[in-house]
Amino acid sequence: MMTKDNFRWGVSSSAFQIEGASKSDGKGPSTLDKRLVKSGIADTSVASDFYHHWHEDIKLLELLGVTSFRMSISWSRIFPSGVGSPNKAGVDFYDQVIDDLLMHNIEPVITINHFDMPYALINKFNGWLSRDSVSAFTNYAKFLFVHYGNRVKTWLTINEPLMLMYNPAFNGSRYNNPKRSTKSNFQILHHILLAEKNAMRLCHELVIDGEIGPVAAFENVYPTSSNPNDVDAALTAESILSYWALDVAIKGKYPGITYNELTKINLAPKVSAADDVIFKSAYPDFIAYNYYSSIRVSAHHQSDNTVIPFFDSPLFSVDMGTERKTDKWSAMEADPIGMGISARKLYERYHLPLMITENGYADTEIPNQNGEIQDDQRIEYLSAHISICKKLVDEGIPLKGYFIWSFLDSLSGREGFSKRYGLVYVNRTDTDIRDLRRIPKKSFYWYRNLIREWKA
Ligand code: BG6
Repeated sequence: MMTKDNFRWGVSSSAFQIEGASKSDGKGPSTLDKRLVKSGIADTSVASDFYHHWHEDIKLLELLGVTSFRMSISWSRIFPSGVGSPNKAGVDFYDQVIDDLLMHNIEPVITINHFDMPYALINKFNGWLSRDSVSAFTNYAKFLFVHYGNRVKTWLTINEPLMLMYNPAFNGSRYNNPKRSTKSNFQILHHILLAEKNAMRLCHELVIDGEIGPVAAFENVYPTSSNPNDVDAALTAESILSYWALDVAIKGKYPGITYNELTKINLAPKVSAADDVIFKSAYPDFIAYNYYSSIRVSAHHQSDNTVIPFFDSPLFSVDMGTERKTDKWSAMEADPIGMGISARKLYERYHLPLMITENGYADTEIPNQNGEIQDDQRIEYLSAHISICKKLVDEGIPLKGYFIWSFLDSLSGREGFSKRYGLVYVNRTDTDIRDLRRIPKKSFYWYRNLIREWKA
């Protein structure tokens, strides 16, 4: 139950997007280090340079007044080649960060894996495409629980498995694998979900009072019309995009009707008896979901460019809409009510506590002549979404927390630093790293006040 004492007000981040130092202190290359080498210097080598600014950044978190900080651990900083012995410098880095957060009374909420994978595992066995990835990940997760579990009690498994499966550069299938296909994507996802189960089981075995949950990119789907074919396609789309992975995490099996549909078109992965045992071996304590906007789906493919082929689906067609954009890059509509609808759908289907681990607004920002960033549109977006959180709690939905994406301006997967989500401006551009100075934006002070008033 949400009370003043236990509701988490947080901000989110991920390792490859903020840390930088991608080649320092023994860190091995990751899939993202290879992928994000754009023109200029907007790559993972500096990012927001959290690796060198963490002490100052944690002071900013304290000033902000958040109860929790969501961060991820870079797998290849701990295991540079994915397997073998841990890299002491990498382990020490997270020890320092975690200890400093706790000293400032800020709870570390840790995502075990946020898109990046040691590149060595691509060379070794084609990354997530291979079943060997399951044991490599399991060893990595086990190490984290044993080493950090005495201090970190809230764990998130693997960020947005569906996005990880869909993005060939993230999951490694872009490399060494000319034959990747929608079918192999589902096999990749199958391995990710087996790995996630092992992490849940180990967390419960190894972390005293530990809690763990999956992190979904929940796609709240509307049919483009009330035509029954569109309604049917919307159900299928939501089942694949949102429930495919969550049903395994929470119910221990793929959603039945959709599994049969995908089997008919030869896409569903085979679930062996041994896989079934793993799928039913552990269940999460809560569901984390990331929410930015909703999508619309129709039964038929359209030929215009609003159609986003999520994974070349023959079953539905995604129309992102064209009005009220969440930011200037995407055609997605801001839809705060959709965040509430998502919570209702999730709670009614699974009856587990919920946590919103990402919600945010991107813009191109430069400080004005007084050195300030007046990000009123971000405030408007966040404010509308936070009102929905309060409404959900009033309605009796057990919402455990809300995290803004993101704490710092960080490396956006596609747009580098031209696309800024942070409550804190980082003084750099894609091509000029400048002094990396931190400037809290207007939204930083707005969120600070909101948290203060809540706690008062
Ligand atoms: C989320 C990811 O889905 O979207 C983040 O978990 C990402 O890592 C965020 O930064 C926004 O996406 P983008 O592509 O606009 O940076």
